[in-house]
Amino acid sequence: MAQTKIWQGNYTFILAAAGSAVGLGNIWKFPYMVGSNGGSAFVLVYLICILAIGLPVMASEVLIGKHGRKSPINSLRKISIELGLNSLWPILGGIGAVTGVLILSYYSVFAGMAFSYVFNVMPVDLENSSFYSMEHFSNLVSSPSVLLFWHSLFMILTCLIVGLGVIKGIGKSVNVLMPFLFIFLVAISIYSALIGDFKQTYTFLFSPDFSALTPSIVISAMGQAFFSLSIGMGAIMAYGAYMPQKQLIGKTVLTIIILDTFVALVAGIAIFPIVFSNPLLEINSGPGLIFQTLPVAFYSLPLGNIFSIIFFLLISIAALSSSISLLEPFTAWLEEKNRFSRPLIVFLLGTFIWALGIGSVLSFNLWQDYKILGLNFLDLIDFTTNNIMLPLGGFFVSILVGWVFPYKFLFEKMEMKRINFLLFYYSLRYVAPVSILLIFIYSIS
Ligand code: PHE
Repeated sequence: MAQTKIWQGNYTFILAAAGSAVGLGNIWKFPYMVGSNGGSAFVLVYLICILAIGLPVMASEVLIGKHGRKSPINSLRKISIELGLNSLWPILGGIGAVTGVLILSYYSVFAGMAFSYVFNVMPVDLENSSFYSMEHFSNLVSSPSVLLFWHSLFMILTCLIVGLGVIKGIGKSVNVLMPFLFIFLVAISIYSALIGDFKQTYTFLFSPDFSALTPSIVISAMGQAFFSLSIGMGAIMAYGAYMPQKQLIGKTVLTIIILDTFVALVAGIAIFPIVFSNPLLEINSGPGLIFQTLPVAFYSLPLGNIFSIIFFLLISIAALSSSISLLEPFTAWLEEKNRFSRPLIVFLLGTFIWALGIGSVLSFNLWQDYKILGLNFLDLIDFTTNNIMLPLGGFFVSILVGWVFPYKFLFEKMEMKRINFLLFYYSLRYVAPVSILLIFIYSIS
């Protein structure tokens, strides 16, 4: 691969990968999943999955990308040939690319919603801001045309960046704004802890209640860990292909994971104090939770509208740096076939994903009652990708790297101290695949 495609600077890879990981999954999905799944038990399983499964799987994905230096499918092909492995392994990359497409179709709908909140200026003298924000959200989701407008806009932005190409588009766009998001989120969480019910939030999030664990909570927490870290579908693998040769995988992955987890927890601390101190807001209100809650916090703040604009803008940018990584694996693979230009590929793929997203738009309104296996279109895609496809992708990555790659090859490539390597190796070989399997079995029993 041409040297020019390697990202310049040591930080670009971390920022891009953290940009992929940190997104709606942390700020929007984590709080509402915690709220709908009873709090601390979910958080605990989530954190365990991040450490025991997420860490080794992410390191493995980066390794495959860094060594293969191509799209996930072709990196897997190259490594399979080099190590004389079964020629079916590249299919793993293919399934991942499809998973990315499916996730992006609904991700874009929610990202569009977040973007629409940039333009939601609250009237000044409301009697009840909670009531207003709940009404606003329900008006938004009941209008297919409004949702479609924002979904379309977000898809266009995503396609523009990915279409521009790896270095110009992805590398640069994430560099500047991520640090702002962190600072802002921390500030909001402190503010909301001060004005809301922090004590109850603390108990809700952190005092473990094992008796609350159910199969569905456990599988959702595992799925959320995969989703939030962007693993199991090749996004991190695709980015790994652009990692500078001398950058160390272990340290880098640890940094990304710490950042991602930190942002999710801080987002929880920003949301729940407001929910607990507001009788109208409901903890288990699902995907609407942050949209109904945050405006209430901003409303009580001097210059609240300005903060709200900045905050939703930052969320939209975080979502954008994730959405481009959902599109990248498929795009990179098609580009390597050398049949079509990158912009054309992105246009065609983007149009397909946009059309698929219409199903998710309609799931809020016209198709609300149209269900397969008890789930509407949006929930079905979300459930299948989050709870099945991502963990399954992670399972096969752990088998491939932990069991199929020769030990010596792996040890050399990981460039870790022996003790750290052994820790990584055994969690990858045993802890990760066995936990994924056990959770699958537990959840269908
Ligand atoms: N991790 C992203 C988020 O938290 C979403 C994502 C999932 C991105 C899977 C890429 C792959 O928002």
